Amino acid sequence: MLENLPSVQGDPLWALLHQFNADQRNHKIDMLVGVYRDETGKTPVMQQVQKAELKLATAAQSKSYKMLAGNLEFNDHMAKFLLGDGAHFSDQCTIQTVGGSGALRVIADFIKTLSPNAVIWNTDPGYLNHRPIMEGAGLTVKPFRWQHKGGLLDIETCFKDLENAKEGDILLLHASCHNPSGVDPLLQQWQQFIDFCKAKKIIPFIDIAYQGFGDGPDQDAAGLRLFVDQVDLVLVAASCSKNMGLYCERAGVAMVVAKDNSQHTKIRMLLERITRINYSMPPNHGSAIASLLFSDPKPWLAELAVCRERINNLRNALGKLLAEMGAPDSFQAVTRQKGMFSLLPLTAEQMIVLREKHAIYGMLNGRINLAGLKQEQVQHLADSLVDVIKD
Ligand SMILES: Cc1ncc(COP(=O)(O)O)c(C=O)c1O
Repeated sequence: MLENLPSVQGDPLWALLHQFNADQRNHKIDMLVGVYRDETGKTPVMQQVQKAELKLATAAQSKSYKMLAGNLEFNDHMAKFLLGDGAHFSDQCTIQTVGGSGALRVIADFIKTLSPNAVIWNTDPGYLNHRPIMEGAGLTVKPFRWQHKGGLLDIETCFKDLENAKEGDILLLHASCHNPSGVDPLLQQWQQFIDFCKAKKIIPFIDIAYQGFGDGPDQDAAGLRLFVDQVDLVLVAASCSKNMGLYCERAGVAMVVAKDNSQHTKIRMLLERITRINYSMPPNHGSAIASLLFSDPKPWLAELAVCRERINNLRNALGKLLAEMGAPDSFQAVTRQKGMFSLLPLTAEQMIVLREKHAIYGMLNGRINLAGLKQEQVQHLADSLVDVIKD
């Protein structure tokens, strides 16, 4: 058997991280990994999470098996957090998953079971794991360009590429803080996607991994909620990794919003069967913490706001400096982009120069994580970018 082992390519991110760790330069900046960092460079455990963990440890509830759908209280909280207090709570079927990635895979299996020939239309550039997760479930993935002009989405290009989408295909969109570009649709552009899905009978699949990292929890779910208001079937994959800092605890949900409530029992049974044959049930600890945060959300939302404001302040400071230095508008667009990521309009060669000459580490495709930056480093980043462009 082992003679058939393929040579699986390692993740380029980890190779770059090794390089960063070995780099002796004091002014080096790590903008690689997709985790939030505070001004000291740490990925902190939120205070409310620590409090919840102490409470859980003291209560020492049973570790007996939970339901296949995971923590039901957490699922209800998540449904309300995602959909808002509107009328659609009764339209959703939600199960807990192993983080957002688990949710993506569960929904992919759901699609493959019901509509095996559906094509997944995926943004290009897009989240590195979307394609492999969808293809891992046996689905076909096709790209559509997620281009922007001046930091805003160029929706005409999207629809040009989506011309070949057929009835029953799936449109995979990021709810907010697009990874890797930070380019999000305006509300009227969300409406254009909705009109497109309705006209062509395309099913929307919304990945929401950064709710609260862009403009706020409600604003970041506005596109999703608009879809849910107007479309009969919406698929959702959500993660608590970033907005609760629960990365390694693996808390997320897969949600199917179906206006035809007569199908709900069958939908739930299928979702549970998918988890059953993959991993039986998700881990409980992260969802138990999340449930406590949701039960008194204000202090947690205040901590989340601090993360969001830090990133937005960094974006504004960088954009201001770049404007003062006369950098092209495509660089100043960082102020109009959302969330942790932006895609620098640099070639792979220029990203290497940025790394080798200036000790600034981003991905070769130009992706940088703004949260890897400290205020005191913004000037160095702006100077380095201007230097790289002029060469
Ligand atoms: C767009 C997007 N979706 C999903 C995920 C997966 O999140 P999780 O870490 O909860 O699996 C990520 C993580 O980086 C992401 O960027």
